[in-house]
Amino acid sequence: MRLVAVGLAVAAVTLAVALFVPWLPTPASKQADRIDFVFWFVTGICIAIFALVVAVILYSVVRFRARPDDDSDGAPIHGNTTLEIAWTAVPAVLVTAIAIVSAVALAENDHLPKHHLRVNVLAQQFAWSFTYPKYQGLTISQLRLPLGEAVQLKMHSKDVIHSFWVPQFGQKQDLVPGITTQIVITPKRLGTYPVVCTELCGEGHALMRTEAIVMRPKAFTAWVKSEQQAIAKASQVGGPGLAAFNSNGCSGCHTFKPAGSKATTGPDLDNLPAYARRAGKPLALFVRESIIDPNAYIEKGYQPNIMPSTFKSLPKQQLDALVRFLTAGQTK
Ligand code: CUA
Repeated sequence: MRLVAVGLAVAAVTLAVALFVPWLPTPASKQADRIDFVFWFVTGICIAIFALVVAVILYSVVRFRARPDDDSDGAPIHGNTTLEIAWTAVPAVLVTAIAIVSAVALAENDHLPKHHLRVNVLAQQFAWSFTYPKYQGLTISQLRLPLGEAVQLKMHSKDVIHSFWVPQFGQKQDLVPGITTQIVITPKRLGTYPVVCTELCGEGHALMRTEAIVMRPKAFTAWVKSEQQAIAKASQVGGPGLAAFNSNGCSGCHTFKPAGSKATTGPDLDNLPAYARRAGKPLALFVRESIIDPNAYIEKGYQPNIMPSTFKSLPKQQLDALVRFLTAGQTK
């Protein structure tokens, strides 16, 4: 009776710690629900075993401790076949159950329904970009998803290994140069969630963050439309320069009004003339140099080596278009 009482007390305390501390973020996808279920299934088993072990230890320490002046040996023990079979069979059953539950959850999470939205995810040091093939290759630096629709994220990396993680979606996936990886997300809660790179990928790793925004399907459709109109308008003005700006991921890190980008990892490109003045160089020359050799001039408040140095291999035509796009319309 005492042993059972101690066991129940330990189980109650452990259960309270498990339930009343918010260990996991609130799930925002169907996949996260399944991961949570596996987590709680395992936690339940762990609490039962933990309570049993702690109860037996506490009870034994108190009940069987040596009395003062008692120097005698304990009774000789020579194995217990029943106990040994039990402590082998029970864990075998539990581990098998955990394996089955996990396998079912993983298989369901990998399942891609026929009706789904595809988004191509591109990672590079140190920015994310998301392309929607269904919407004429619309490319943005924040991930936007319609509520309730399965989304297939097809992932590529331009340079090194990165890892895509939205804690509330309960899924994590590496992006590896040279191969395509994928995960399926079915958002089930409206909101804005952090997209975090969880693979140390260089000096800007900690800055490699953006947001995943889950919208109502109607709002999502409206957003796609307005985005496409904005692009159509900008391409009349910006032409190949804007295309180069988006396809090279500039919009993932920089704010630049003519491109409609609002990222803040790097300096605001609407202020290029001011930076050029501080660097003591003519605007066009300064812009070209900053693309080819980003560390030549570092604007105050920013750090060297965050912008990739890979743009020096841009085709000359693209580089010229980019410089024209960045310098045109600058007034200050
Ligand atoms: Cu990309 Cu860390």
